[in-house]
Amino acid sequence: MKAIRIQSPAGLDNLELVDTDTPSPGPNDILVRAAASSLNFHDYLVVSGATPVPDGRIPMSDVSGEVTAVGDAVTAFAVGDRVMGTFFPRWLGGEPSLAKCWSHIPGDTAEGYASEYVCGPETAFTAIPERYSFEEAATLPCAGLTAWRALFVEGQLQPGETVLVQGSGGVSVFALQMAKAAGATVIATSSSDEKLERLRALGADHCINYRATPEWGKAAAALCPRGGVDHVVEVGGGATLGQSIEACRTGGHVAFIGVLTGMSAEVPTGGLVIKQIRLHGITVGSREQQEAMVRGLDTMDIRPVIDSRFPLADIADAFRHQESQKHFGKICLSYGD
Ligand SMILES: NC(=O)c1ccc[n+]([C@@H]2O[C@H](COP(=O)([O-])OP(=O)(O)OC[C@H]3O[C@@H](n4cnc5c(N)ncnc54)[C@H](OP(=O)(O)O)[C@@H]3O)[C@@H](O)[C@H]2O)c1
Repeated sequence: MKAIRIQSPAGLDNLELVDTDTPSPGPNDILVRAAASSLNFHDYLVVSGATPVPDGRIPMSDVSGEVTAVGDAVTAFAVGDRVMGTFFPRWLGGEPSLAKCWSHIPGDTAEGYASEYVCGPETAFTAIPERYSFEEAATLPCAGLTAWRALFVEGQLQPGETVLVQGSGGVSVFALQMAKAAGATVIATSSSDEKLERLRALGADHCINYRATPEWGKAAAALCPRGGVDHVVEVGGGATLGQSIEACRTGGHVAFIGVLTGMSAEVPTGGLVIKQIRLHGITVGSREQQEAMVRGLDTMDIRPVIDSRFPLADIADAFRHQESQKHFGKICLSYGD
């Protein structure tokens, strides 16, 4: 089968399409003919060399496809089922732990899914939403689940609450769509007026250009009758956390997800304490949460926003497109003929 390997030194020019053996499933495994994957910022950090991985690692944490073989002990899936991977194949449910999460991340600390076939324990996969194509499903295991967990698991979002989303990348567009489907008011920010119009077309109630309005947190708070937003889906990181705290109402919630502007921050701790804000760092979610998301998406009238699709062999071009930040929503890799 064909697969992409990250050759040394890691970088977008060193992603090589290679022939490699098709895996065969053990008793508890399923073999999946991969149909699609989608790009996440985390994958970009890996393929660009910012997150070191062993030489020859197969990248990509997202995958969807059709089951083509199952081991003797497999009970959850049968040949022909439509499935997608999980970001943390060993975090099945309950509380996260280092062992369950970071020891085995496809495309990072474990072999990833940029290959025509993928194989693993049945517990490393879930069903996909009934109406979704493989490409749409491939956008869910990382970006979709992160937005879902931020809003519904940790945020316990209620209809009528206000959610602030930052920029127009994968996580933020999902958060906007899911929050609107749940009856929330959404304030969206972007660096681009054109993208803000597209966010408005997806349902954003208020739009703020964060370049033109550096004090966007204050501007967002001024739009809210309760003095600030109930939830921030924080993907910017170091350079945005201060404004996110500014945007929150007293007792609000910041789901701290992203590191787009860096790994450390000067935190206005005074605002955090005075407003009694719940600041919660989260990383994706468990398989149990992914199953809940699939049930939820089966009842929500939303479809993932796919910006563009690239063949597996053109993976470097796909990442260059992501690097340019011209995308809106998700960039997909299609593995079809
Ligand atoms: N913790 C987790 O579980 C988890 C899961 C998924 C992703 N993440 C993290 O979340 C972040 C977003 O991931 P993604 O996959 O959605 O990325 P992405 O699709 O590459 O999104 C990039 C977009 O973010 C926006 N952006 C960049 N700088 C910004 C800033 N200073 N303020 C507001 N928006 C800004 C830009 O939107 P505009 O062009 O509209 O300005 C840009 O197009 C990354 O740091 C990623 O590592 C974390």
